[in-house]
Amino acid sequence: MTATATSTTLAIHGGTPVRTAPFGGWPVWGEEEERALLAALRSGHWGSLDGTFVTRLEQEFAAFQGARHGVACVNGTLALSVALKAVGIEPGDEVLVPPYTFIATASAALMVGAIPVFVDVDPETLLLDPALIDAAVTPRTRAIIPVHHAGSPADMDGVMAAARRHGLRVIEDAAQAHGAAWRGRPVGAIGDVGTFSFQSSKAINAGEGGMMVTDDPALEELLWSYRNVGRRKGGEWYEHVRLGWNLRLTEFQAALILEQMRRFPAQQAHRTESAAYLSSRLSEIPGVEPLRVPDGVTAHSWYSYHFRWLGERDGGLPKLAFSAALKAEGIPNFHGYVPLNRNEAVREEVARLGGPEPVACPNAERAADHEVLMLALPILMGSHDDLDQVAEAVAKVAGARA
Ligand SMILES: Cc1ncc(COP(=O)(O)O)c(C=O)c1O
Repeated sequence: MTATATSTTLAIHGGTPVRTAPFGGWPVWGEEEERALLAALRSGHWGSLDGTFVTRLEQEFAAFQGARHGVACVNGTLALSVALKAVGIEPGDEVLVPPYTFIATASAALMVGAIPVFVDVDPETLLLDPALIDAAVTPRTRAIIPVHHAGSPADMDGVMAAARRHGLRVIEDAAQAHGAAWRGRPVGAIGDVGTFSFQSSKAINAGEGGMMVTDDPALEELLWSYRNVGRRKGGEWYEHVRLGWNLRLTEFQAALILEQMRRFPAQQAHRTESAAYLSSRLSEIPGVEPLRVPDGVTAHSWYSYHFRWLGERDGGLPKLAFSAALKAEGIPNFHGYVPLNRNEAVREEVARLGGPEPVACPNAERAADHEVLMLALPILMGSHDDLDQVAEAVAKVAGARA
């Protein structure tokens, strides 16, 4: 085999892979996290009711996201359900959600008996397209959940304008968007409530964990109460004024998250620079397009990096073959979500609750079936050399014929 043949033969067909070294691990930790965990242990107060770490986290995280109040909880999924309850969502109410997101955005609504109604995404950003909101609104629509997908704020101008037009409550699903901002305003409290995840893949994490932020003191009391088995702030221990859950975060998780927050700004800056560099490299490759970042995004969390493969229609590899070939070149990647309007569990529950059949969402479906591939956060934490290898591998696979 000639040198040229070796370098252009796909690794999946026996050629030499572009890369053999693994990418870095996630999360990153050090003595600071060890000290914080020991401090929580030695405090003897391992629960938030008598400890100090969760309270500090709630204050610091809310301030970090530019919100007045923070209420910590066990994860980002239940944060969404609690937020929906707090803004008054009742069984049978309809909640607008994008289809191209983690299942929790829709299942959190279903878990409180509400019906998710899908509003398709913009194919260039994968973010909910506000131009499609009006057509999805019915007399039963009560709320909208814009998702700040991959760390990019959704178009909050369009979402808030539509919410005002139709009298909808707004829950921002910011599970992936710590530190992100729309027109200079951190996400989370632009709408009524914003929810975050500290699950193990997230840019700030403690293995598991969640946070709800809001500017509204009345909502903060409700979030606190639902998270705290329906207790009343300042009330008696066995005074339960509503039904709630025990969704309290532990002191250990809060201690870890506080330390991870200190690492975050430098990591976010690194990923932002990496994403710009990778986008400039990938843009040179025919058939490959980085996602468009909306103009209003003034800070992006770069939780993950997505690009569109448009070459399938011009005789290039089909998306799944592209993904497998890229993996064989040493670049881990993911196919992304199954659009939730097609998810059987979601469809069955919507039907069981008597909701309208989920509509087709052609942009999300095309992204899932033919176009979009995802690179996880550790790749963006790498060096330019790492990203050059990503671009080299993408170019190699993009050049292959089906
Ligand atoms: C967009 C989105 N919403 C909600 C969640 C749920 O968060 P958690 O895994 O903490 O329950 C996630 C997390 O994976 C997510 O990515």
